[in-house]
This record gives sequence, C-alpha cells and structure tokens, in this order.
Amino acid sequence: MEQSQHTEMMSVPRIGDKAPEFKAITTQGAINFPGDYTGKWIILFSHPADFTPVCTSEFMTFAKREPEFTALNCQLVGLSIDGLYSHIAWLRTIKDKIEFKDMKNIEVTFPLIEDITMEVAKKYGMIQPGESSTKAVRGVFYIDPKGMVRAIIYYPLSTGRNFDELKRALIAMQTADAYAVATPADWQPGDDVIVPPAGSCGVAKDRMENKEEGVTCYDWFFCTKKLSLEQVNNPPKIK
Ligand code: BEZ
Repeated sequence: MEQSQHTEMMSVPRIGDKAPEFKAITTQGAINFPGDYTGKWIILFSHPADFTPVCTSEFMTFAKREPEFTALNCQLVGLSIDGLYSHIAWLRTIKDKIEFKDMKNIEVTFPLIEDITMEVAKKYGMIQPGESSTKAVRGVFYIDPKGMVRAIIYYPLSTGRNFDELKRALIAMQTADAYAVATPADWQPGDDVIVPPAGSCGVAKDRMENKEEGVTCYDWFFCTKKLSLEQVNNPPKIK
C-alpha cells in the first residue's frame, strides 16, 4: 500500500488530553470509559487479535501480574477488534489449556473490550494501517485518576510488551505526581530522583551555592535527591 493511502486523518489522543470517552461491552459486562474508573489509574491496552501467540503470552502475563497493578490503584482494560464470543472462547482456552513459562490455569478477570466496529480502536489511534488495517497495534494508554492521558506507548504486532517497564513507568508517574520530582534514565523505585530546575536560571544557579539538605547538584540544571523505597511505596494522598 502506498504511504499516502495510510495517512487518513485520524484524531488521536495525545499526552495531556482528556481520555476520549466511550461505552463498550466487555468480558466483564458493559463499561462507561473512563468514567467508571474515576479515581484510579487505568492502563488501556490493545492487542492485534484473539487466538494469537504473542497476545496470549501478554494476556497471561498481565493476568498473573494484575494484583501488582491493583496494588498501585491501577485498573487494566484490554481491547481487540474481535467480538465478545471470540474473547470468551480465547480466555477459556488460555485458562484450560495453555501452560507458558511458570504460568498455568491463568484466569483473566480484567475487562476485555469487544470492538468489532473498531470504534474505540480508531478513537485511540490503535489502527495504524501501515502496520495493519484489520488489527490493532499493541497500544498502551496510561490514564490518570482525573481521566487525563499521561503516557502512550505503541509496539508493532511482532513485539510482546515488557511488563516490568509498564509497571515501572506507572510508578514513575505516580511518584512524579506525589513528590513533584522527575525520574532519570532507567530509574527504579528507591533510586535518586531529579529535583526539577526552578523557574529561572538565576534561582537554579542559587541552588548550586545554597544547596538544600540532601540535594546533589551535578550542574545548575541537574540536581537529584534521595527518595526512599518506603517513600515511593507510601506516597502522600493527592487531592
Ligand atoms: C500475535 O499476537 O502473535 C500476533 C498477532 C498478529 C500478528 C502477529 C502476531
């Protein structure tokens, strides 16, 4: 297909946008998105198709690790452009028949949206015709407790997602919100965090000379401080 045929105008949510709303049927009943999950983080993720191997490995991993996301006040919601009966049959097959790595008898209890009309997939830019016009790419949308899109990651059909990274990014955003900090490359909970530069260079330069207790500055624009694992795991409540 020619490149020009792929560039159909689509409105796609961006970081900082309000998450597009929709009503949908899922394997856990009807949902009103994102309203039903107000006050929680949401990871809305798409997969190309039921009864495919990469997707199966991903669903098993997400289902096994769901309690870790629940503990972070995060609801998982899956989507593919298959119908409800396909979803149900696939999830039953996973539970009854698939053993993969250390996983067996895995029950998927988070909602999986049916989207045969592609309405939701199109709304979220999950159909990327250069990759496939009949399957959703592997999209991951992080939506915060106020219903705002906070991060978006896309993977191609061939590449299964890294669930440690999906969790790490969630904790990093929650930590940034709770402590007004940023997180450096490859940050892991318990590592030092970045103290964002103050509004003006003058103020930031001042910080080099009058360093706050516990702050290390590598230069006027690059300061870090300790944030313990205990603090990351017990963030103050955000109003
Ligand atoms: C998979 O999940 O295995 C898959 C789905 C669509 C295309 C390629 C792989």
